[in-house]
Amino acid sequence: MLVFTEKKVLSQHLSSIIEANKSIGFVPTMGALHQGHLSLMEQALKENDTVVVSIFVNPTQFNNIEDLEKYPRTLEADVNKMQTLSENLLIYAPDVKDIYEQKLASESFDYDGLELKMEGKHRLGHFDGVGTIVKRLFEIITPNRAYFGEKDFQQLQIVKKLVEKFQLPVQIIGCPIFREPNGLAMSSRNERLSPQARKKAAFIYETLQKSKQNFITKSAQETTEIVEKAFNKQKNFKLEYFEIADEKTLCICQKKDNNKKYRGFIAVFIENIRLIDNIPMY
Ligand code: PAF
Repeated sequence: MLVFTEKKVLSQHLSSIIEANKSIGFVPTMGALHQGHLSLMEQALKENDTVVVSIFVNPTQFNNIEDLEKYPRTLEADVNKMQTLSENLLIYAPDVKDIYEQKLASESFDYDGLELKMEGKHRLGHFDGVGTIVKRLFEIITPNRAYFGEKDFQQLQIVKKLVEKFQLPVQIIGCPIFREPNGLAMSSRNERLSPQARKKAAFIYETLQKSKQNFITKSAQETTEIVEKAFNKQKNFKLEYFEIADEKTLCICQKKDNNKKYRGFIAVFIENIRLIDNIPMY
């Protein structure tokens, strides 16, 4: 398995693939790989001649230094996991300098307001950091297709907007959320939960499923209040937000419109670890 740490060397390697008219699939990650990541890679391997996986904990998308420092970095284990899938995956695992050179800073992006909702409201600057790294990785790797999980649904919409605004020649493919057997959405952050918290965190998806049921007969506001009350009764959780929003614009649902598709979005703390999840309400 080839592991590249320098963009120059990776680009050289990829240029022969591009010249041969072969397609490149790309799965961007921050490492600490789990089954959800591997499922993205599996899909990418099916649909492309070559697949590049980036492993890079991007500092500019963290608004909390402790979160950045504690983010798991497990390159060796990640490579081993990928090896079970395919020997042909190419890994790009740069250091900060290879990506940011002399200037560790985000660019500013206008995503037509998508960045002002939910995660953007609670993690200031987060989507500038995401846009900066994703755009740079696209420039280095020049993929035909790039794969993003729907767990970070807002990120997926933002990346689609980035591609549209900069007219980047890459197709963005959203892939379904992978869940642990108890329903908890797979996330690298789950590794930081105690076994008890990991069990209890099943409550998040259970509540999302109930909210979907409630939304059939109740308004968005009533459904939201029921979720908030359910979390208020739980001493282990701190709910940051639950919102029912239009999938496309991410605008909160004030009044149900049958022509729109809604999703329930949640961010919640357990043991001081922030988890997010979402569910289609249709
Ligand atoms: O979803 C992630 O893991 C990250 O936000 C991404 C897309 C790899 C950019 O750093």
